[in-house]
Amino acid sequence: MLQDKKIILGVSGGIAAYKACALASKLTQEGASVKVMMTKEATHFVTPLTFQALTRQPVYTDVFDEKDPVKIAHIDVADWADMIIIAPATANIIAKLASGIADDMLTTTLLATKAPIYIAPAMNVNMYDHPAIKKQMCQLEKWGYHFIEPGAGYLACGWIGKGRLEEPETIVNILKAQQEKEKSLAGKRY
Ligand SMILES: Cc1cc2nc3c(=O)[nH]c(=O)nc-3n(C[C@H](O)[C@H](O)[C@H](O)COP(=O)(O)O)c2cc1C
Repeated sequence: MLQDKKIILGVSGGIAAYKACALASKLTQEGASVKVMMTKEATHFVTPLTFQALTRQPVYTDVFDEKDPVKIAHIDVADWADMIIIAPATANIIAKLASGIADDMLTTTLLATKAPIYIAPAMNVNMYDHPAIKKQMCQLEKWGYHFIEPGAGYLACGWIGKGRLEEPETIVNILKAQQEKEKSLAGKRY
């Protein structure tokens, strides 16, 4: 179901960024064309080269890195995508998206795209429970953004609770199921 799909994988700066490598690889193995977009903070955890090698596609980290004078990169790639998945999504990226902030390549592309956006949060349990984050997730859901809930268990920060990035296999299965659902509804009118 993901064969030939054009997917942007947005990676923000959380410890679970290492799991995004497996996700990028699995999506590529499903036949999708995957372009990874990293925040500056995400590059502290994993290198762009890792994603480039796994996806065999350029990795975007800088909104001012304009390689082709004919196109504006963030608009071009925002229009290219069939879907965007942000994994891991930090508290910061959720807050920025809900507030309409566009101050780097990923957030600018997120505002410019018409593609469906899936958000897989990962953070400390207290951050996840914070009323500001709850409110912003609620707002984003109302606007039609899809959330892939984090799992509960031992967190890298030492706390136990909800906030673990969902496993890459599960994320891929959720995206496939959603594609299946959309395909079965295509052309139907109610
Ligand atoms: C070791 C370490 C681990 C972190 N893990 C997370 C995390 O899992 N989730 C989160 O929301 N922020 C985490 N942060 C904080 C973010 O990196 C920080 O809020 C940053 O500004 C996020 O920027 P970005 O959303 O632009 O990537 C972590 C920071 C450090 C130093």
